[in-house]
Amino acid sequence: MLNRPRRNRKHPVIREMIEETVLRPSNLIYPIFLSDSSVEREAISSLPDQFRLNLEGVFREIEACLELGLKTFVLFPVVPENLKDSQATYGLKKDNFYLEAIRKIKAQFPGIVLMSDVALDPYSSDGHDGLVKDGEILNDETLPILAQMSVEQAQAGIDIIGPSDMMDGRVREIREALDKHQMEHVSIMSYTAKYASAFYGPFRDALDSAPKSGDKKTYQMNPANKKEALREAELDEMEGADFLMVKPALAYLDVIHVLKENSMLPIAAYNVSGEYAMLKAACANGWLEYDKAMPEMLLSMKRAGADSILTYFAKDFAALYKKLL
Ligand code: PBG
Repeated sequence: MLNRPRRNRKHPVIREMIEETVLRPSNLIYPIFLSDSSVEREAISSLPDQFRLNLEGVFREIEACLELGLKTFVLFPVVPENLKDSQATYGLKKDNFYLEAIRKIKAQFPGIVLMSDVALDPYSSDGHDGLVKDGEILNDETLPILAQMSVEQAQAGIDIIGPSDMMDGRVREIREALDKHQMEHVSIMSYTAKYASAFYGPFRDALDSAPKSGDKKTYQMNPANKKEALREAELDEMEGADFLMVKPALAYLDVIHVLKENSMLPIAAYNVSGEYAMLKAACANGWLEYDKAMPEMLLSMKRAGADSILTYFAKDFAALYKKLL
């Protein structure tokens, strides 16, 4: 035998020397659910070890994350049901608790990077990402709302706007609105290939944001399609996106890969709530080993081509990374 691939695996130092993919905490973006409650942290039953945090809770959480080397966060507001309406009005209110919180978080931690998800669903009584009329999701009528929301969030201190609504033309509308308001420096991470997935369930529990009627299939993508992801990527690039995102991640590694191969932009992957809950449940049952399965899962996304990963595992991964260093 002339070729024995095992020779390259015989020693841990050799294995490490030729390791192709490296994942660091700086690649990760940690999602945080922000509430306006007087309770500092409230458990989310379908999302074990993740919490709805009030502002004090968020401060404490970010401090703990900084200790572990996590510096980028994506915020999601938990809006009380009585403040939701069909026009998502609360999302645009300049003194809403979310915008206030962004200002305070940025003032407290000027060194971090804050991303915000932009869509109507946290504020919408219909639970849809766009305006709803007679059961239809309106595209063009939704765009100015998304643009205004983006400008207000950018003015409050958001560094990266993340449109997650999947309306056509929204990246351009948001880019132009940001630029018109002297927010040229604010980035856009587009949810480029966002699929109509069953893996968002626990997230919708966290925000109580499940659609009140119908589903999201007329705007989120069909899980059967890959070429369509390339089409969305091309459009987002032309419309001025700075990063392209694929969501979910684990069940869509081929989509991450094809976007990485076909774009000059950095690729992000959203390791979504259902993917997190699934592994947590298996580990809680003793069926899988958390400290081994969790980094392997994240590594697969990086290996597929994701430069950065939005993940509920971020804190646990960073703690493990620190321990192993
Ligand atoms: C809202 C939004 C969703 C997620 C991120 N932004 C839910 C949805 O589209 O219904 C899901 C994230 C997750 O499951 O972790 N537009």
